[in-house]
Amino acid sequence: MAEARIDEVAANVFRIASDVPGFSFNQYLIAADEPLLWHTGQRMLHAATRAAIARVLDPATLRWIGFSHYEADECGAMAEFLAEAPNAQPLCGRIGALVNVNDADAKPARALADGETLDIGGARLSWYDTPHVPHGWDCGLIFDETRKLLFCGDLFTQGGNDHPPLVESDILGPSEAFRGPLDYFAHAPNTRANLERLAALQPETLACMHGSAWRGDGGALLRELAGRVG
Ligand SMILES: [Fe+2]
Ligand SMILES: [Fe+2]
Repeated sequence: MAEARIDEVAANVFRIASDVPGFSFNQYLIAADEPLLWHTGQRMLHAATRAAIARVLDPATLRWIGFSHYEADECGAMAEFLAEAPNAQPLCGRIGALVNVNDADAKPARALADGETLDIGGARLSWYDTPHVPHGWDCGLIFDETRKLLFCGDLFTQGGNDHPPLVESDILGPSEAFRGPLDYFAHAPNTRANLERLAALQPETLACMHGSAWRGDGGALLRELAGRVG
């Protein structure tokens, strides 16, 4: 697997990007007192992701390994990262802990309730349940209140490769072009309300999992997305 690139997209927040043909996967590292990796990437990406982390901090010092919902790109390499970092613990929502992590993984999760805040020393993170948005009953997202940065997971997924780490140009158009034919959003009745709730956080940076991270009026962009899917 090719090397992953790592770029700082907000103070002490790093995007780790791996390209595969036609698509890309981002993990994010918060270099806080209790370092957090948001998404592990698949097992096939583990060596590349680990090497990128090691350019910023010792992967054995990771304290939290968080993810949005249970899929291979979000948490497939959980076992590998837990094995190296003795103090690391999975971090997810209560449904994810109950249904998946507490059986499948080597350590029980720190399960966050909807709206609960975790201070990792350098970032105050709040968890928001977003069931089925864009997919997965267990789905949720974290908002870094310190930086007004929403780790928005699969929202605004952009296809293709070689995305710049952080852009201020339009990502809604490209991500809607990707969403249309692939139909990767669940068709749930509360999708619009969930997106509007995230918009009310007024994020200034959106840390997308696939494609470029984005800076701008995140509330407006989320409301626009809500209008398209709702
Ligand atoms: Fe997903
Ligand atoms: Fe994803």
